[in-house]
Amino acid sequence: MPRENFGPEHVFLAKEEILSYEEMTSVVASLLPLGLSKVRITGGEPLLRRDLHVFIALLRDLDSELDIALTTNGVLLERHAEILFKSGLNRITVSLDAVHTELFQTITDSKSSPEDVFKGIDVAQKIGLPVKVNCVVKKGVNESQIVPLTKACSERNIIVRFIEFMDVGTTNNWNLDSVMSGQEMREVLRDHFGPLEPRAAAHPSDVARLWRLVDGSTVGFIESVTKPFCGDCSRARLSAHGSIYTCLFSEQGFDLRGILRFGADEQEIATIIRDIWLHREDRYSELRTQLKETRHPVEMSFIGG
Ligand SMILES: C[S@@+](CC[C@H](N)C(=O)[O-])C[C@H]1O[C@@H](n2cnc3c(N)ncnc32)[C@H](O)[C@@H]1O
Repeated sequence: MPRENFGPEHVFLAKEEILSYEEMTSVVASLLPLGLSKVRITGGEPLLRRDLHVFIALLRDLDSELDIALTTNGVLLERHAEILFKSGLNRITVSLDAVHTELFQTITDSKSSPEDVFKGIDVAQKIGLPVKVNCVVKKGVNESQIVPLTKACSERNIIVRFIEFMDVGTTNNWNLDSVMSGQEMREVLRDHFGPLEPRAAAHPSDVARLWRLVDGSTVGFIESVTKPFCGDCSRARLSAHGSIYTCLFSEQGFDLRGILRFGADEQEIATIIRDIWLHREDRYSELRTQLKETRHPVEMSFIGG
């Protein structure tokens, strides 16, 4: 969350306002019969929530086949990787927008360093937890990091996915000039490493398009601004306070917390979510340039990316 949004007057949600691990688990359980096969835990910063491994173990107990992933800034990963893995986590995505220490500290507005993040990545890999890296590229800010980050990841046998900077929320000063397209990022890589070759996607709902470098390593691009993929999107998002959002750019969610606490059983929750999902019409990324009205979409720090 940007520091200016987080002054001393910031009011945290009371503990009873956020969903318990048991409540989140029952939402997931209700969706398994409808075909839910993957859960991603994001945030905020998920490693800041106490005993996160307990939640992962609850999810794992539901279904041994469920794909459980986590997106984190990686700063606390070194400390938590092993217990998360032992509790049933399948894989980790680490956000890392710079390998240059000062630039990293400016972007993250923190005193942590890329080395802290790499320590966490290295521990995760050592214990057998697959890792991917996400890097949001903002023009004029961190395009200089594309080549060094690709090198650091390919040395570790990790796929780095470069993300086009999106206009999520209202506080990130987004404008089209600050977007570096996937095509422009590939040109930077081509100039340094030689020609790139596209690779086939494993699933239609995969958000990243994969390309192979001459040395055989793979890089990905999430091009949601220049090549929107709303039609293939199968993601519903559940906020910490229990609302379901059908799009990253939604202005409003649907309250599930009240329904859960009113005593709805898993079948009733499933019916409600199915209804919300079947009636969704949002495809913001495809409409972005045509929408003229002022919108107030939820912040990334709230909905989790
Ligand atoms: C909001 S973070 C939340 C999880 C965790 N705190 C982290 O840092 O990974 C989830 C993902 O959204 C990405 N992201 C944040 N702002 C973005 C933007 N404006 N455009 C594209 N991706 C963005 C981040 O880089 C990260 O990979």
